[in-house]
Amino acid sequence: MRIDKVLEEKGFGSRKVVKRLFQRKVVLVNGEAVVDGSFNVEERLHRVTVAGEEIRGFTHIYLMMNKPNGVVTAITDATRKTVLDLVKKEDKTVDVYPVGRLDRDTEGLLLLTDNGQLGYQLLIPDKKVSKTYEVTTKEPLETEDVDKFARGIIFIGGETCKPAHLELLDEHRARLTISEGKFHQVKKMFLAVGKKVVHLKRTAMGPLELDPGLGLGDYRPLSDTELALLKPYFTYKGG
Ligand code: URA
Repeated sequence: MRIDKVLEEKGFGSRKVVKRLFQRKVVLVNGEAVVDGSFNVEERLHRVTVAGEEIRGFTHIYLMMNKPNGVVTAITDATRKTVLDLVKKEDKTVDVYPVGRLDRDTEGLLLLTDNGQLGYQLLIPDKKVSKTYEVTTKEPLETEDVDKFARGIIFIGGETCKPAHLELLDEHRARLTISEGKFHQVKKMFLAVGKKVVHLKRTAMGPLELDPGLGLGDYRPLSDTELALLKPYFTYKGG
């Protein structure tokens, strides 16, 4: 949550009054003066003080889900079950949403949060947050595919992808790491080398790794350690 909003909600005064607190450098985050009110603070990561007084009560929801096949990555859908339908009422707020999109038939790691600033930072192209997938293909994979992915796949239609890391696991299975998020990217990358993806599962997003103990459709809050891994993405609005 923006630190200026936290201070306004905690009764420090109007936007104008709060702005003056930043100018006076009396607002500290983990001991350092913050001058930009758009700084995204999270109680589990940041100790916020105003003129020495500690401010509490500004935490968000962060859920790791193992998305199952057959569920759409959306907040609501007129006919189909969504990832939000899998989350119990008591575990979410109205603002919880999925960060990024997995196809209906894709499984695996999905982060759900009501911290929109964090979600934005994880998705903007500048941040180049990596995503790792386990892929099963209909056609056998070839060693040349590794080089083709490393050079940068060109979709049928001409669009170019950034270099990607492909590791062959067996004849039909590979682990792929990409640093962008084009629509149906993984499926289209494999199609460009003549292979149809028959199973797709995301296992990592940036520093977050899918908990192997989470069954399909299950979710749990991020641990403090996992949340700390996301700290570089708690930043200024434009940062
Ligand atoms: N790439 C795809 O093709 N599908 C997904 O769900 C995610 C990445």
